[in-house]
Amino acid sequence: MQSTHSLPVDPDRLHAIAGKWGTPTYVYLEDMIRVRCQLLQGLFPDFPVSWLYAVKANDNPHILKIIANEGFGFDTVSTEEVLLCLNIGTNPNKIFYTENNMTDAEMHDAAKQGVVLNIGSLGRLKSFCEAYPKSECSIRIKPDISDGHHAKVDTGNQDSKFGIRLDLLSEAVSIAGEYQVQISGIHAHIGSGIREPENLLTEIEVLLTASEKLDDLKFINFGGGMPIPYKINERSFDLNRFAEMASDRFRSFLGEMSRPFSFFFEPGRWVVGPAGILLTQVNTVKDQGRKLFLGTDTGFNHLLRPALYDAYHEIVNISADPDTGTQNYHVAGNICESGDILGLDRTLPESRPGDHLAILDAGAYGMTMASHYNRRALPAEVLITKEGFHKTIRKRKTPDETVDEFLNDTGMIRLDE
Ligand code: LLP
Repeated sequence: MQSTHSLPVDPDRLHAIAGKWGTPTYVYLEDMIRVRCQLLQGLFPDFPVSWLYAVKANDNPHILKIIANEGFGFDTVSTEEVLLCLNIGTNPNKIFYTENNMTDAEMHDAAKQGVVLNIGSLGRLKSFCEAYPKSECSIRIKPDISDGHHAKVDTGNQDSKFGIRLDLLSEAVSIAGEYQVQISGIHAHIGSGIREPENLLTEIEVLLTASEKLDDLKFINFGGGMPIPYKINERSFDLNRFAEMASDRFRSFLGEMSRPFSFFFEPGRWVVGPAGILLTQVNTVKDQGRKLFLGTDTGFNHLLRPALYDAYHEIVNISADPDTGTQNYHVAGNICESGDILGLDRTLPESRPGDHLAILDAGAYGMTMASHYNRRALPAEVLITKEGFHKTIRKRKTPDETVDEFLNDTGMIRLDE
């Protein structure tokens, strides 16, 4: 497996992309995405395990098509994500919609679209059953297991807003029974960037046990959360070992089963995280007395993770001569907030304005969390295809186009027109 903390692509390619598309630009590697999909699909050869990709990690439709082409279905969380997946030609029965405080209108959209609806509260279950008696749905439970790379993405703990309390499971069963709705699936997701594989195994156990209360069950969805290493020497999640341990449990569970049954996992970060780079340019080198800053042409409007979670992304200067001396830099963005730091205390080769920096492992939760803060345009996105071509998969808007679009959306017109 390609190391995730060294540059996963020839710097000449990145220079060529920066030359043609400018910066900031997200660059994705199709080959790596495909290899990672195939690795996941090989993990459980003896069991009916299927893979759903969590669209929120990276929803560029070109990326979705690659992942669909590798045989994945999709885990979605909004009507908009469902529409995207349908638009690239996905069969609705391969789209799971995990709702979270959904509206009635969203519920009816999901029912019309024919996707698998995964319901996370008794109130929503009741309104679904009332509107669609004799149908079927999945339910999300709150497993009371805590994990995730940051408290903000720990979704399975006791105080989490997500899922139906386990002690209310029999109530869920009786609501569904009253309207002859089959609970055909059960789901949980304990967090993103799971630190302890044992927690995922415990969650599996909780779901297998809960499933005994559900007579109509056809599948169990164990959620996503598989982490990737962002730092050198970061302990990585041993997927093979995890799969071996989970397989033992699947074997004993399915041994007692006489009807067809499926298991699902729904990773996002693991599939695309290491396959994306945010390419940026150094605009300013500035000595502030106690700190030396490298100021770039991107910021937390384009990569929010460092500001939001203190997340670490490796930063490589692809332009500097590696034989020159190094310096300790704070790599800062161009957003008007002092929290706009992309990398604190980074040892980098002596850097100059005009150098290009590659911010690694930015394929997941990079572009999907980008915003127009400070009214700046979003980055361009370029795919390095499996044939080695560079393909625009999202063009950057010019400042004029960005402002035009905004004025248009707000019902204003440009004064200079
Ligand atoms: N399934 C459900 C129900 C989820 O809520 C999530 C992520 C996933 C699957 C995929 O999790 P993954 O395999 O990617 O860890 N913005 C944060 C991550 C938020 C994840 C939210 N839910 C970050 O940048 O770290």
